[in-house]
Amino acid sequence: MVAAAVKWVGGVDGFLGLIDQRQLPGEFVKLQCRDIEQLYEAIKTLTVRGAPAIGVAGAYGLVLAVQKLDTQCSIRDALECLKKAADYLGSSRPTGANLFRAMDRIKSKAEDFVASKAKANLQELQELVLNEANAIYQEDVDMCRQIGENGEKFIKDGVGILTHCNAGALATAGQGTALSIMFEAHKKGKRFKVYVDETRPLLQGARLTAWELKQAGINVVVICDNMAGWLMKQGKINSVITGADRIAANGDAANKIGTYSLSILAREHGISFYLAAPSSTFDLSIKSGDQIPIEQRPSDEVRFLGKEKITPDGVEIYNPAFDITPAENITAIISEKGTIQQPTEEKIRRMLGQKLWQEKTGKI
Ligand code: MRU
Repeated sequence: MVAAAVKWVGGVDGFLGLIDQRQLPGEFVKLQCRDIEQLYEAIKTLTVRGAPAIGVAGAYGLVLAVQKLDTQCSIRDALECLKKAADYLGSSRPTGANLFRAMDRIKSKAEDFVASKAKANLQELQELVLNEANAIYQEDVDMCRQIGENGEKFIKDGVGILTHCNAGALATAGQGTALSIMFEAHKKGKRFKVYVDETRPLLQGARLTAWELKQAGINVVVICDNMAGWLMKQGKINSVITGADRIAANGDAANKIGTYSLSILAREHGISFYLAAPSSTFDLSIKSGDQIPIEQRPSDEVRFLGKEKITPDGVEIYNPAFDITPAENITAIISEKGTIQQPTEEKIRRMLGQKLWQEKTGKI
């Protein structure tokens, strides 16, 4: 597995270590994130990216938000500061569920703590926030491994798999979601080939997924996004496996733009379409994919390929970062809690049980 995409270093006064994913695969640069403004920028610019990694980064962002407060700061003011930081970081990228889930969980813990302890001090609150962020980090690591173990059975010896964007170690705190399944199958000695969509406009597939799979010794072939259908027609692809950024209660799922088209192509060719995601990516407060906000990204991401401008001046650009794959196009969702074939709201609720934080607290 590649080095950790997000890792807290030190105690309450520590910093958040990130890999600068904009520079991969050319350069491997580590960054030290020391305040929430720097973290906001890192999330916005995709320095740190992938819904689970953004969630973990947001959790540690709340540690950054309270770590430098004056020792004289009252516990209530510290709580206000934490809430403001959560609003601010939450405005960075709207589509992925994990960021909101992680920060809401910490806010709720902090509120309960302040309400229950009349004489709580700032240091105790800071430690509580760090402990909860560490728990979110560790859960993500564990969920990733378990997704891999649950999903590896869907990879048979000798098959071709298509993936889109990057749902690997770089997108999580652990070994990824979609790629975790491939890593576990590879560990078991299965031989298979992974076709990786380059994933315009920012090329997460060509740059990041190919980099991760190659390091793991997995047979990887990069293709342009518009080649997928033809490969399917030729019988080179047996299944599609991608990650997800937010899954609505009915199983509709947001993922990187282009995933929806792949789901239609897969259906047309009778190919299984798997989606791998931890339970922190499910959002049961949202009934269907129509309600998932789709992030619009800057035009220059499409207008330029690297440093080169590829469109005529004055041409309008449209750049939605995600699309929604309807539940009926999904063969199965693979999570750390199990696998749901042909997802429906009932099956999703049954799989997640009452353990969902949202449902336990009644907060959304
Ligand atoms: O814009 P990005 O690079 O953050 O988009 C990432 C994806 O779409 C991933 O597939 C998704 O976050 C799942 S990652 C485990």
